[in-house]
Amino acid sequence: MNKINIPMIGLGTWLIPNDEAESITKDAISLGYKHIDTAEVYRNEEGIGNALKSSAISRDEIYITTKMWPGMSQQEEPYQNFDGAIKACEQSLKLLQLNEIDLYLIHNPFAKENRLELWEAMVELKKQGKVKHIGVSNYNVHHIKEIEDAEIEMPTANQIEIHPWHIIPQPLDEYMKNNDILPIAYSTLAPIPNWREGSKWNGKPEDMKSGAMPCKDIADKYKVTVPQLFLKWSIQLGYPVLPKSVKFHRLKENLDLDNFEISNKDLNIISNIAINDQKCLAWSGDFDPLEVE
Ligand SMILES: NC(=O)c1ccc[n+]([C@@H]2O[C@H](COP(=O)([O-])OP(=O)(O)OC[C@H]3O[C@@H](n4cnc5c(N)ncnc54)[C@H](OP(=O)(O)O)[C@@H]3O)[C@@H](O)[C@H]2O)c1
Repeated sequence: MNKINIPMIGLGTWLIPNDEAESITKDAISLGYKHIDTAEVYRNEEGIGNALKSSAISRDEIYITTKMWPGMSQQEEPYQNFDGAIKACEQSLKLLQLNEIDLYLIHNPFAKENRLELWEAMVELKKQGKVKHIGVSNYNVHHIKEIEDAEIEMPTANQIEIHPWHIIPQPLDEYMKNNDILPIAYSTLAPIPNWREGSKWNGKPEDMKSGAMPCKDIADKYKVTVPQLFLKWSIQLGYPVLPKSVKFHRLKENLDLDNFEISNKDLNIISNIAINDQKCLAWSGDFDPLEVE
């Protein structure tokens, strides 16, 4: 456990449509998932809320993360402001049918001019008891430093893309350690060839889509699958994971990580396997949100 009490494995739900979210979330809960990760922009909070309501799990046994969308310049959206952020949270609470969100995040740092104002809204939401913990996502050092410089409450977590092709940049890693900010890993399975297969939201280079399964020899050694190896690699480094799947057998596989331990030597090999070939895979190809101004 960590200071925000977030379970180390959560169900990722990006690209799970609202009308499938209820049954997949119910399946995940029945298998033992204790954390669901969603976002305003995923448009599936309603389905997840229905699953939470109809499943037998008690509220204190399930952890819910959702995220406020601050806007995105490339899509010509207006940026969110303080009042809009408060309303966005209230709408998420309504759709999720909850009184309180366990972890509420600003989804990205794109709203440059409004970033501090949006963080002030997060602090206010916490004060009002609508959210338990507040954090950010896709923030680099210079984004978080704005909050530090304003001398207001700091984020407790930063949800970022983490896998061997996108390890946490050293300055960000050091900054988060110094400020007690927990990295939460997303798209940890991005290096596997079938990741987001057939989806337009897949900016991976063609050779990674059609190539061999990476680290297969190491996974074989531990008698696990490569997805299990990558998820466990992240967990052993201390980063909670959010594997998404719409398939029951994969939901089960991604939760089944207790029966092996990766040696320090192999952790190191995996961490260094693409050290000279780092790239952001989860956004559109040549764009890394950590690098926005
Ligand atoms: N904060 C952010 O900006 C941000 C960005 C991206 C993601 N996220 C969060 O992180 C979650 C995870 O990231 P992600 O959805 O990009 O990727 P992911 O969970 O790393 O990978 C999902 C992909 O891998 C496949 N898959 C899952 N388990 C598998 C297994 N055991 N064997 C083979 N294939 C498997 C899935 O296909 P099937 O569904 O067909 O099984 C899907 O194509 C998201 O759902 C979302 O909640 C956050």
